Amino acid sequence: MPGTCVIGLQWGDEAKGKLVDLLTADFDWVVRYQGGANAGHTVVVGEDTYKLHHIPSGILSTEAKNLITPGVVLNPPTILKEIESLTSRNIRVAENLLISDRVHLVLPWHLEEDRILNKAVVDGENIGTTLRGIGPCYRDKVGRTYAVRVGDMYRPDFREKIERTTAAKQNLLGSIDPSYALQLNADEIYQEYSGYAEKLKPHVADTTAMLLDAVDADARILFEGAQGALLDIDHGTFPFVTSSNSSGVGVAAGSGVPPRCITRVIGVIKAYSTRVGGGPFPTEQDNETGQHIRDLGNEYGTTTGRPRRCGWFDAVAVRYTARLSGVDMLSLMMLDVLSELEEIQICVAYEINGQRVTDFPSHPDDLRQAKPIYETLAGWQTDVTKIDRAEDLPENAIAYMNRISELVGRPVGVASVGPDRAQTMFLDEELAQTYGNSASSR
Ligand code: IMP
Repeated sequence: MPGTCVIGLQWGDEAKGKLVDLLTADFDWVVRYQGGANAGHTVVVGEDTYKLHHIPSGILSTEAKNLITPGVVLNPPTILKEIESLTSRNIRVAENLLISDRVHLVLPWHLEEDRILNKAVVDGENIGTTLRGIGPCYRDKVGRTYAVRVGDMYRPDFREKIERTTAAKQNLLGSIDPSYALQLNADEIYQEYSGYAEKLKPHVADTTAMLLDAVDADARILFEGAQGALLDIDHGTFPFVTSSNSSGVGVAAGSGVPPRCITRVIGVIKAYSTRVGGGPFPTEQDNETGQHIRDLGNEYGTTTGRPRRCGWFDAVAVRYTARLSGVDMLSLMMLDVLSELEEIQICVAYEINGQRVTDFPSHPDDLRQAKPIYETLAGWQTDVTKIDRAEDLPENAIAYMNRISELVGRPVGVASVGPDRAQTMFLDEELAQTYGNSASSR
């Protein structure tokens, strides 16, 4: 039963969208199963660039059905804009996009709560969320009392649900911020969301039933993770995380497909590290090197435009997330960004309280204290963006790739040297057979 997952192994923005777009050709279903409009997936196809927040990156290439399943939180105006924009560019969204009726809705009060609470200092820092209402929406899902799901928009008591919840949320917002002055208008919210309901209706379906049928029929399913495993609510750098299970552990829960259907996990990593928002980041380079990586990697958020914090590759963190997510192979992205550097560092362990540590710490204070222990490798100082066979990469780039693989304990199955589909090499034999040695023919 060929279920493949694509999971980010760092703090998000590992260029998962590019890989999903490439792999889709061999799949019948592409599934988004957690997160919401906090995600930003950029896919470059020839001259065209697509920026997606909600819709799976699989929408661009094939006839595959793209599903948004129960673990996702949905912002209707954002997805409607995306549908409109893709449709105007002749992408087949009407036929190929389906949204679960179990998905939870992001409502105006979630955005307000996110804005107010994001000012708070938690464990010494701001979380620095994307302000897309993600945490508050998941909080209501878990709390249940004030949750509203996609399917609720089509029920006779929808107006009553909105009225009741608006009143409760008005009180709540006033209690967390005494200066809160905005009056939420239940009637306006009801009208607005009824309009969205009408437009979304052709896409709404019971995706769980569909996927279980697909599993029974031995269909090929690709699961597209959003964010990265270090932002996982249970296993990441809590509290500086997102509010869903963004590591491999979230696939079954968010999609409704049993775990044993997942037969291959591809862990996506950048050749260095980045992080947006607050929280400890042991290998951060808040200096010229960090700025160099930011400039060459265009490391600015797709969703918020914020400059990303940049640093060296952290093998302690990635070894942890690769094991946690059950990764079979790595997809190493953005190798080209390091091409000008004379020397490159890899963090192989931390020093915490005088001890050498190779297990990823569970508490942010320990991670804050962690001093990276680096290994220095020689750079390759050669343009690699036109190379399409791994064996043609400069010797030092191959050595860097091999060292990462050794430290993380997983083979590199894919390497990427630029944003275009053609700038991809498949080192894994099975992938190479399916997709060609390089993607240059695509
Ligand atoms: P939230 O998901 O908006 O609540 O943000 C929580 C944390 O996750 C913040 O540090 C965000 O910057 C980070 N985050 C959320 N989504 C992404 C993403 O797609 N890429 C990178 N970081 C993200």
